[in-house]
Amino acid sequence: MDFTQLPWASYETMDEVIDASGKLAPKLVLISVVDIETKEEVAGQVQTLRQFFTEAFILVLAAKKLSPSDALFVKKSGGNFIILVPTYLTTIRLEYILNQIVKTSFIPVGADDFKEGTVLDFAVYTKLKLNNKIVPVIHPGTSINQPRLEKLKLAEDLQVRRSHVELFSKYINDQQDSSATGVSRRCRVQLQTLANIHVNLVLTLTDQAESGSFGKGRDLIQQVSELCDNLLKNLIQVLDPWEIIDRSILGNMGVTDRSVVIACLAALTSFRSHLGDPKDILMAGLFCDLGLLDLSPASLKYINTLEGRKQLLLDDLQIYLSHPVISLNTLLERKLQLSDKVKEIILCTHEKADRTGFPNQVLPEKIPAESSLLMIHEWVDIECRPQPGKERPSFFDVRRKIYNQERENPQNFSILFLEKIKSSF
Ligand SMILES: [Fe+2]
Repeated sequence: MDFTQLPWASYETMDEVIDASGKLAPKLVLISVVDIETKEEVAGQVQTLRQFFTEAFILVLAAKKLSPSDALFVKKSGGNFIILVPTYLTTIRLEYILNQIVKTSFIPVGADDFKEGTVLDFAVYTKLKLNNKIVPVIHPGTSINQPRLEKLKLAEDLQVRRSHVELFSKYINDQQDSSATGVSRRCRVQLQTLANIHVNLVLTLTDQAESGSFGKGRDLIQQVSELCDNLLKNLIQVLDPWEIIDRSILGNMGVTDRSVVIACLAALTSFRSHLGDPKDILMAGLFCDLGLLDLSPASLKYINTLEGRKQLLLDDLQIYLSHPVISLNTLLERKLQLSDKVKEIILCTHEKADRTGFPNQVLPEKIPAESSLLMIHEWVDIECRPQPGKERPSFFDVRRKIYNQERENPQNFSILFLEKIKSSF
């Protein structure tokens, strides 16, 4: 992602920021506190920014690791994420944040998501074709009557703020629509909620200023686990789950923001082919690529294709080849309570039957089926990603092609595995 294409402004002093604040409505504010000595002063500056930019994501650039209590102090003052100088320009953390917070701060919704006689506690926006500006069509607190419903139907490209996805999800759930369309709709919104929680989790887990606590780790896992249970329950009921997964997920940067899609596709195949545990796949799939955030910005040119990954520069290649271990270590450091099975699945997501995978070249019979399901769906996802100037291939065609290739020349997956997923492909 070339983030210099995004509109931006920079200021030397806080007074200049305050003077300009009336004209600015930034989605993200980056403040450098590298030269500031005390935590009180840092917190004061962050607080001032928060006063002027209530909605913005405030990213704090610090020189060195803060103690857990100091980091908490800065966050309580309004900072969202603390990034350290050594990783600021050398890893893709900044790109990830910009991509998630700035480029995908809205989620698409449909006019038929809204029902007459209901009241919205979130705003609905439309994206104007003329200038790509996003403007509100319905304000929070508005009740939906027939004229407003008509207005929504006429508006194009309806959107809801991503930060309001849980309010939107509650609105959809409260409709208690048990028709096929209703279940599909709930499923789509649960996926969007999971994608949103996933971003928050990735930010929490990779924020170097955050320290793990047993309680916090347990709460995070509990929340994700419940959402995964509900999602699976709905996903297996809908007629077109592949389509819903394909259309619901935000982000296409090619690293960990595709994890939700890949995990859902693999979990669904697991369910349909009675192979492995779909829930374990979801839990492992959400976290297995956390380590990729340590890659350098130069890697973005290569990471989006399997061929490109072989051309990664040496430092990036080393990170790539050990990212399952880095991901697992990140989870363990943050005291996330995952089962041994889920840990094993994470470690084996790039292991191959012919022992040419990484990081441990384990024996083929030691590779969990869940890991192989995640690997084959990552390959499918990579080929299905939209590429500039190219027509996007059909998901089903890509799946079938990859399956047939593997079947003809079974090196990456065991013959037994390929036989078991045959009916789903
Ligand atoms: Fe991976």
